[in-house]
Amino acid sequence: MLKNDQLDQWDRDNFFHPSTHLAQHARGESANRVIKTASGVFIEDRDGTKLLDAFAGLYCVNVGYGRQEIAEAIGAQAKELAYYHSYVGHGTEASITLSKMILDRAPANMSKVYFGLGGSDANETNVKLIWYYNNILGRPEKKKIISRWRGYHGSGLVTGSLTGLELFHKKFDLPIEQVIHTEAPYYYRRADLDQSEEQFVAHCVAELEALIAREGADSIAAFIGEPVLGTGGIVPPPAGYWAAIQAVLKKHDILLVADEVVTGFGRLGTMFGSDHYGMEPDIITIAKGLTSAYAPLSGSIISDKVWAVLEQGTDENGPIGHGWTYSAHPIGAAAGVANLKLLDELNLVSNAGEVGAYLNATMAEALGDHPHVGEIRGEGMLCAVEFVKDRDSRTFFDAGDKVGPQISAKLLEQSKIIARAMPQGDILGFAPPFCLSRDEVDQVVAGTVAAVNAVLPK
Ligand SMILES: Cc1ncc(COP(=O)(O)O)c(C=O)c1O
Repeated sequence: MLKNDQLDQWDRDNFFHPSTHLAQHARGESANRVIKTASGVFIEDRDGTKLLDAFAGLYCVNVGYGRQEIAEAIGAQAKELAYYHSYVGHGTEASITLSKMILDRAPANMSKVYFGLGGSDANETNVKLIWYYNNILGRPEKKKIISRWRGYHGSGLVTGSLTGLELFHKKFDLPIEQVIHTEAPYYYRRADLDQSEEQFVAHCVAELEALIAREGADSIAAFIGEPVLGTGGIVPPPAGYWAAIQAVLKKHDILLVADEVVTGFGRLGTMFGSDHYGMEPDIITIAKGLTSAYAPLSGSIISDKVWAVLEQGTDENGPIGHGWTYSAHPIGAAAGVANLKLLDELNLVSNAGEVGAYLNATMAEALGDHPHVGEIRGEGMLCAVEFVKDRDSRTFFDAGDKVGPQISAKLLEQSKIIARAMPQGDILGFAPPFCLSRDEVDQVVAGTVAAVNAVLPK
């Protein structure tokens, strides 16, 4: 289709895209796609090509695209009050209502919510508050944060350090020294193939204990983890993992931050991943599903235990020296209120659980026997297919073969379906909107089978 404008050229000339091969894009060697409109689980580009988005953007458009209720709430808020700040006790009806709605849905023992704009800045807030907390408690040495290899927590200075993926460290001088990493709870990729799942959990615990012993518990403030590893490969934890890890953290007085940016508000079929796995976090990070990405908004849900110390801190030191101009932005808050209402009204959390289970079962049935499929795993509306060169010996492909990206490209080309080639390993990830139907699951699975067979013939 001929275009009578220069948008493509302007894109290559002016736009710095995140997570993109900058040189190839600027030279016009890689595809660009300009998205124009969307509805339900489908997006449409400006050439009129319709794509089934089985990754909900970046696992964030949880209620699906084109929800007029949220658009109208945003419009009404913009007309009535587009902005006011939330410093020194100010608020808006939307931000106060949303904080109440979040706390009503949050796990036990949670006290307040601080609003930011995205998952990265929310985790940045968490680390600052944890440092403040230990200073107020008179433990200035207790500052290091433990994260897991393959964890994803953002791409700022602290949060990019927390992220345990090489691409986010390389050439950026990260991680910073206050961040240390431990074993990923990734049973399929265990070093010792003879280990049972139970033995592997014991190994993760032993690794954590050894790290704490090496660094000294007095130097470690917190442990951060996603209930299910997301960007690191979509990996649900082995049975018993969180209970075993939490026992270690409690013993050493180390706080737990549950990063629920992906799992919060229903992706696992429960409101929070912490409920799903019996986690008792001291702080919970939320973003994506809070507004289903209709407007940027994130949050840090602070437990009673941490909140009490923050109050003590301000009694001793004056107002907390932390805040963004756009904290609790009313437009984001209005989107959040409308989004959480919609989740309830349309029963979307239980739909995520039910249709997600169907997606995982159907994918396993269709591809479970394929000689190049090593593992199919998932939880709720999350599913991943991991590819291997040889299944019996669990030999992985070379990263340079780009098998995962080839399969996602083939799926797009042949079936007009978007799944994400996860950045580390040959893993195809699915995280569709919660409103996905069973028919759409069947389409996604059939397209995936065709793409896998095209790239990796049996
Ligand atoms: C678990 C998790 N935490 C934090 C982030 C960072 O969020 P943002 O990209 O909004 O900064 C992400 C983003 O994918 C995430 O998956």
